Amino acid sequence: MLFIADVVGTPGRKALEERLASLRDELKVDFCVANGENLADGVGITPKLAEKVLAAGADVITLGNHVWRRSEIVPYLNGAERVIRPANLTKAAPGKGIVVTNGRNETRVAVINVLGSLFLHPPVSMWELIDELVTEAQRQTKVILVDVHAEATSEKVALARWLDGRVTAVIGTHTHIQTNDARVLPGGTAALSDAGMTGPHDSVIGVQAELAIKRMRTGLPVRFETAAGDVRIEGALVDCDANGRATACETVRVRV
Ligand SMILES: [Fe+2]
Repeated sequence: MLFIADVVGTPGRKALEERLASLRDELKVDFCVANGENLADGVGITPKLAEKVLAAGADVITLGNHVWRRSEIVPYLNGAERVIRPANLTKAAPGKGIVVTNGRNETRVAVINVLGSLFLHPPVSMWELIDELVTEAQRQTKVILVDVHAEATSEKVALARWLDGRVTAVIGTHTHIQTNDARVLPGGTAALSDAGMTGPHDSVIGVQAELAIKRMRTGLPVRFETAAGDVRIEGALVDCDANGRATACETVRVRV
């Protein structure tokens, strides 16, 4: 069983530290991916926070459009084995966009991280390199998970359709609102447009609501602070067979 969650701020990290180990047992999770681009005060990630989330039970951390918001992560990504960043960045970017590593049951799992185009404007379109990445993953394992960090459901649905039958799952992150479209496509690829948010839900996608509303209403600069209330672990749960074909895909929502 594969589990992927998009984790926001200190509340999200603490929820994993408190609950991920027992949740992995309850849900029989062999492999856990945490998108961690919003771990540092709601935006960016530091090496220390990455290590904490790995220690809490994530097997791999993926990132997104806020990858470079904290400069400490730049040198760390060069040596990080289980922390990857979107593959479709510039050639100068440290780190990598794919990793293959062992899950709890010793199954090899490949994780690929790409950025969608709408509003995020990656230097390279994910469509330019996704086939190459999938081929690279297929050389090493049949269990392949794609974290498509994107704004538009259309891009996420299109990518899942394009990869149907070639990867185990295409799971969306970034929008922090869990979508109601968990499914297994005809070719055997699990898909969900957004895994939701592991973090504070009494908020505007993780930010204290009054601050987000003030910025939107006034157009003035407002420093965002991560909210604290109604913390939940949300994510996608995917089951697959030995050939990496998905057999089930569902959403998870647990109050912490
Ligand atoms: Fe994002």
